[in-house]
Amino acid sequence: MKSTFGEHIQISLFGESHGAAIGVNINGLAPGIRLDLDFMRAQLDKRKPKGKISTQRREADEFEIVSGYFNGYTTGTPLCIFIRNQSQHSKDYEATKYLMRPSHADYTAFQKYGGFQDYRGGGHFSGRITAPLVAAGAVCLQILKEKGITVATHIAACAGIADEPFGADKADLLRQAEKLNDSYFPTISSRAEQEMVQAIEQAHSSGDSVGGILETAVINMPAGIGEPFFGSVESVLAQLLFSVPAVKGVEFGLGFGFAGLRGSQANDPFVMEGDNVCTVTNHNGGINGGISNGMPVIIRTAVKPTPSIYQPQQTVDVQKRENAQLQIHGRHDPAIIHRARVVVDSMVAIGLVDLFADRYGYMWTAPDGSREERKDVF
Ligand SMILES: Cc1cc2nc3c(=O)[nH]c(=O)nc-3n(C[C@H](O)[C@H](O)[C@H](O)COP(=O)(O)O)c2cc1C
Repeated sequence: MKSTFGEHIQISLFGESHGAAIGVNINGLAPGIRLDLDFMRAQLDKRKPKGKISTQRREADEFEIVSGYFNGYTTGTPLCIFIRNQSQHSKDYEATKYLMRPSHADYTAFQKYGGFQDYRGGGHFSGRITAPLVAAGAVCLQILKEKGITVATHIAACAGIADEPFGADKADLLRQAEKLNDSYFPTISSRAEQEMVQAIEQAHSSGDSVGGILETAVINMPAGIGEPFFGSVESVLAQLLFSVPAVKGVEFGLGFGFAGLRGSQANDPFVMEGDNVCTVTNHNGGINGGISNGMPVIIRTAVKPTPSIYQPQQTVDVQKRENAQLQIHGRHDPAIIHRARVVVDSMVAIGLVDLFADRYGYMWTAPDGSREERKDVF
């Protein structure tokens, strides 16, 4: 099982939805990163289910840092973050344990792990396992923020309803990012938020679910990060984003939209802005040849409708080897999109920190002059 990611900043994920705990181990961080635990809590809060638009499983998601952290700073040894599960209703899964949920990982897990997998609540395939990723992402977002880099995501579309696009101007983008990062249901237009929430509630009341598209901007990304081929910004971020359960599409800049354009429409002309090289448009989403070009990195991530719906579904019973009807009873999200937002921000931050560490070494992850804070020692 491949549950690790990263060349320089390595993360290793563990846990099951209904097991004792979930968590993440982060290797390769510099010593001397002051962790803002309130920020980590706030990030985990954005992933928590709230209201009728989310699952009724309510977990406190209180985390413990059990290694690699001392006196408010990372020590440079593995940073291990641990979150206990507290609200498991495992009985909900007993009656349907041989009935494979369409579009979920029940059947593929059954094939791969031969019946030994923990099926309760989706086991290791549950969206719950993204909580530790958010904790790790919060650490990486703090590192990026210290360097002046902002990551923000809005719900560009949900249930067929579109949000307004990101602003083209950097000042607009930064303003939008600040608002989005403070909101639980991040849209640029409040009308879009209302309509999307209504559509999720309607889907929920008919036992159904909806999907959507998240659009992420990385602002103040310097030029020159990433590798030409396998370590390209696109390939590293895409690997992480496609690792998020329910993500089925990732594109950068215009992405699939490039296919219908001519070069004369698609190209981003270069222009000097003061002493900075910029592009007039940003169709390439801030990346050329796998390397950041200094424009905002723009990523779109498609999230499918939640597989577990409350309408009867056609499936198979893998024990009896016969066709069957499935009626789901557990607690599920009628939409994943708003909770996946912070997971996407986290994955982008983890990938970028790994790419920066590739270019500048792992000590880059500590703030400049962090050793000065230990004047008592040095
Ligand atoms: C934050 C989050 C919450 C999720 N909640 C649910 C849920 O309540 N019910 C469900 O069936 N799937 C949920 N999922 C999605 C499944 O975990 C995912 O669809 C499943 O593992 C199959 O993987 P795939 O969709 O990537 O093929 C959630 C995913 C995320 C990221």
